[in-house]
Amino acid sequence: MKNFKSKGFPYHRGRRLRSSDNIRDIVSETNLSSKDLVMPYFVREDKDSSKANDVIYLKRYTITELLKKIDQLIKYGVKTIALFPKILEEKKSTTAKESFNEKNLICRTLKAINKEYPDLTVICDIALDAYTLSGHDGIIDSNGNINNDQSLEVLSKMAVNFAQAGCNVLAPSDMMDGRIKLIRENLETNGFHDTLILSYSSKFCSNFYSPFRDVLGSKKNLGDSKKNSYQIDYRNSREAIKESLEDIYEGADIVMIKPASHYLDIIKDIRDNCLIPIAAFQVSGEYCLIKNAADNNLINFKDCVIESLTCIKRSGADIIFSYFAGEVAEWLNQ
Ligand code: PBG
Repeated sequence: MKNFKSKGFPYHRGRRLRSSDNIRDIVSETNLSSKDLVMPYFVREDKDSSKANDVIYLKRYTITELLKKIDQLIKYGVKTIALFPKILEEKKSTTAKESFNEKNLICRTLKAINKEYPDLTVICDIALDAYTLSGHDGIIDSNGNINNDQSLEVLSKMAVNFAQAGCNVLAPSDMMDGRIKLIRENLETNGFHDTLILSYSSKFCSNFYSPFRDVLGSKKNLGDSKKNSYQIDYRNSREAIKESLEDIYEGADIVMIKPASHYLDIIKDIRDNCLIPIAAFQVSGEYCLIKNAADNNLINFKDCVIESLTCIKRSGADIIFSYFAGEVAEWLNQ
């Protein structure tokens, strides 16, 4: 703060601004709203509703169950959801061809949602991990490498497929090079001029995705294999900024930093370096840490959730993806 001059105590008493609820409220710089939040949901196509299907803290819903959940969510003012599929294991393949099947689980879900809730914004993940036998976000070539350009072909077909099924925000989370450009070009060629691209542009190779991978069924497929040949090394921040700037240049409408809480410096840096909206994803591992600590009475659940999300917003995120979105919106409405 270059211009801060103070004669010091007692002319300055910082506590005056913290003296009552009203004063604290009127000087608060960051205010969380249900309009900032995106609720991620997992959708499944198996009919098995037994316990074996449950993953701790994160539920998978059938399309019918999901529609009921959305009904509650909308009442609390959350207007955007993100969809992730748990497809049947037998539909996974080396080519991830189910991703561009126009009757796949996500396309069916989109149609059902758009019919009942046409005003809801639905964000669809563009990555191959839910569709590959390897659990990787791209295609593995004959040399055993994640092949960038082969993956791009499939990812762009998947993107057009979802746009055709009614998705208005596509969110590439695969971290292949050049995907935003190719997806943007394919959307334009196919007449989807208004489809938004929310790029998971600064996506780190994080250990906090593990519960999510369990839900998708990609964790066991991935085994010991790592995503570090495409996701960003968490030791790097300049590289993360560069990745977001490149995606903006290629045609992204919104960029995202992921995970969120341990990456607030990156959110702030990107915020200071670009002019488009910024999203941040409080990922499954971050969510489970708070849930688990609260379940063990180590922290106060509600207060810690609100603090975690407010701090993500304070660092510069306009949009926050969080598995707490539904609960938080309910609290904010009280
Ligand atoms: C798919 C994808 C992942 C997440 C969102 N999209 C997992 C991964 O990259 O392995 C993680 C979300 C979460 O942990 O909540 N590429």
